[in-house]
Amino acid sequence: MKNIKACIFDLDGVIVDTAVYHYKAWKRLANNMGFDFTEHQNEQLKGVSRMASLNLILGWGDVTHKTEAEKLALATQKNEWYNVMISQMTPAEILPGAREFVQACRNAGIKTAIGSASKNTPTILNKLQLASLFDTIVDGNSVSKPKPDPEVFLKGAEALQVDPNACVVFEDAVAGVEAALAGGMKAVGIGSPEVLIKANLVVSGLDKMTLDILEEL
Ligand code: BG6
Ligand code: MG
Repeated sequence: MKNIKACIFDLDGVIVDTAVYHYKAWKRLANNMGFDFTEHQNEQLKGVSRMASLNLILGWGDVTHKTEAEKLALATQKNEWYNVMISQMTPAEILPGAREFVQACRNAGIKTAIGSASKNTPTILNKLQLASLFDTIVDGNSVSKPKPDPEVFLKGAEALQVDPNACVVFEDAVAGVEAALAGGMKAVGIGSPEVLIKANLVVSGLDKMTLDILEEL
């Protein structure tokens, strides 16, 4: 591989579909406060940090009176419900082609990293038995600026000692694609081309990725 020295993967929605668990836990929280939100609104939560997600949801429910301490308690409650669900995950929930493509990158001498907003990244990678597939893991516990800020991916590139312009980021969220491009990296969108319009390439999943496609980016 001439130009590409590292691939950085978002976790939720790229390696594993945890979005359904986030949705169930946030929905339960909203329902407890007496309102609901749609699956379409839920799309806007992709790639967004826990507290930013809570603020969006409270806005949808016109809940304007919560103190910071109350907000923290709500986010903690949501995370507890979410953790009950992810604690039952198995490697069967790895998205199609994800393990195979990451392994193919490694076999070709390309470094691999996780770049995720989630503070639950270590738990999820352990459940999926995937932690050893990545040379470095940068997650919500080690970044201060959320996507679309490029911090999470730049930290990954730095840890791998690879120049950002030799990195490719795989992302299912608009904010994540923007973060990759802002960091001077190439972005492969995972999902729909109509949504991820800024990505250099969009595929439906890592099962559609090959080293040949990577080389042509
Ligand atoms: C992102 C998800 O990867 O992580 C978001 O797409 C989530 O939905 C965010 O809110 C933070 O996750 P966590 O696990 O730290 O609450
Ligand atoms: Mg994601």
